[in-house]
Amino acid sequence: MIFETHAHYDDERFDKDRDDIISSLPFKGINRVINVGASIESTRTTLELAKRYDFVYSAVGVHPSEIDGLNDETFGWLRGVAGEEKTVAIGEIGLDYYWEKDEQIRERQREWFKRQMQLARECKLPVIIHSRDAAEDTIQVMKDINAEEIPGVIHCYSYSKEMAREFVKMGYYIGVGGVVTFKNSKKLKETVEDISLERILLETDCPYMAPEPYRGKRNYSGYIPYVVAEIARIKNISEEEVIEKTYENAMRLFSKVK
Ligand code: NI
Repeated sequence: MIFETHAHYDDERFDKDRDDIISSLPFKGINRVINVGASIESTRTTLELAKRYDFVYSAVGVHPSEIDGLNDETFGWLRGVAGEEKTVAIGEIGLDYYWEKDEQIRERQREWFKRQMQLARECKLPVIIHSRDAAEDTIQVMKDINAEEIPGVIHCYSYSKEMAREFVKMGYYIGVGGVVTFKNSKKLKETVEDISLERILLETDCPYMAPEPYRGKRNYSGYIPYVVAEIARIKNISEEEVIEKTYENAMRLFSKVK
């Protein structure tokens, strides 16, 4: 049983065959899926998907590159849907300095990151954090609001193993997806080797980040076994152990999932 902790099946790249793909997942060993909102609009479509499929759950939140869609009114709506039965996390939220160079907008990213972390604390939900080229500020924001009291995952982890230790110290999990299969992903392979399997979650970030041998193509949860195989190889353990432990980890973190 594989727990896919980060998918975007509402993305337009699934418009033609969305139902076929999602319906096929349980037959491929994918038994739980969290579809992750990244904007107000995609949070809406995420909630609809969770209503349609019993094994699909929703994360509600706004990605740092989409914060233009946030204001007091939409934030109030987000707070409302955070309480829905199948909402199991706040996300994806965080900082993205790769796409954003303007310091004033970066400051707004930090503000909305904080507010959404606070929302998670109020709703007693874990967080799914997106952090790109912003390691120091991510840690700083997390320290400022005592993030060790709010459980969560650093999704699509892209920093060093030393930084991973910092996140793990705060009680966080590390999301590992297709990138770990890339030949040039030395840092992520080192991180996977270094941190305990108890702290790793499986994810795709589909339609993005397809693993080898599908790099550059549309990704989907059915490719997670390639990620599993690489983690097993790096840690010199069986694929079954990777699948079992990461499933337990995800169930522990996303405790509303049945
Ligand atoms: Ni994502």
